[in-house]
Amino acid sequence: MAEHDYIYKFDAAQYDLMISKQPEVGSVIREIRSFAGLDVIDVGAGTGRLTTVMAPEAKTIVALDASEAMLQITSSKLCRLELTNWRIVQSDYVSMPLEDDSADLIVAGWSLCYIANSNCQKSCWEEKLQQVMEELRRVVRPGGTIIIMETMGTGTEVPSPPTFLSAYYEQLVEKYGFFHKWIRLDYTFESTEQAERLARWFFGDATADEILRKQIKQVPECAGIWWLNLPV
Ligand SMILES: C[S@@+](CC[C@H](N)C(=O)[O-])C[C@H]1O[C@@H](n2cnc3c(N)ncnc32)[C@H](O)[C@@H]1O
Repeated sequence: MAEHDYIYKFDAAQYDLMISKQPEVGSVIREIRSFAGLDVIDVGAGTGRLTTVMAPEAKTIVALDASEAMLQITSSKLCRLELTNWRIVQSDYVSMPLEDDSADLIVAGWSLCYIANSNCQKSCWEEKLQQVMEELRRVVRPGGTIIIMETMGTGTEVPSPPTFLSAYYEQLVEKYGFFHKWIRLDYTFESTEQAERLARWFFGDATADEILRKQIKQVPECAGIWWLNLPV
């Protein structure tokens, strides 16, 4: 967690390079809810993987993230697209400076996991998750949709989520009523050397050593998708 904090503060460009090696996820979102003409909020938007795909069709989009460096990359991508329907908000997602009932669709890609990935004990992250869920419900309108994406395992062809995230994933379904499915979002790196270097940097030695041993540049990745449609 501490290392990822450092990455989001000082190494945003390298993070953006790494995720550029995964397939685009617009169609995954569209299958659950078309975002054409909607007011959208991307929570933990990072370097804009989801924001930049949705912005051209959305009515408006807010990219919210705690990291200024990550948001700067999102911002420059949106400027290059010559769009004017977007806004960047630097904030913690536990308490968002956004109005009640201000969005039709909230997406949160690989960002809420940091609640459970913190150093606090189970009761502490459960409380924080509850706060975030209340915050998401506050800003989404009746009839709106919340979509969450998280890792179900890197370097594995079938879901094998990190143990410390299992209880959080269970709560999304059992306590908060989300539907769930999983998909493959494999990385296709330019070379084994690049795959190994970026995996060591972000995922750690075990994943990187496996890439070296297998001499692969296509690294399997499983992603979990959770979604909740709110009553009108
Ligand atoms: C793995 S990146 C995901 C970025 C982007 N959604 C994507 O799909 O590539 C996680 C992001 O969550 C942000 N983040 C982590 N904890 C946060 C918090 N408490 N409030 C707001 N953003 C947070 C980080 O700054 C980082 O940009």
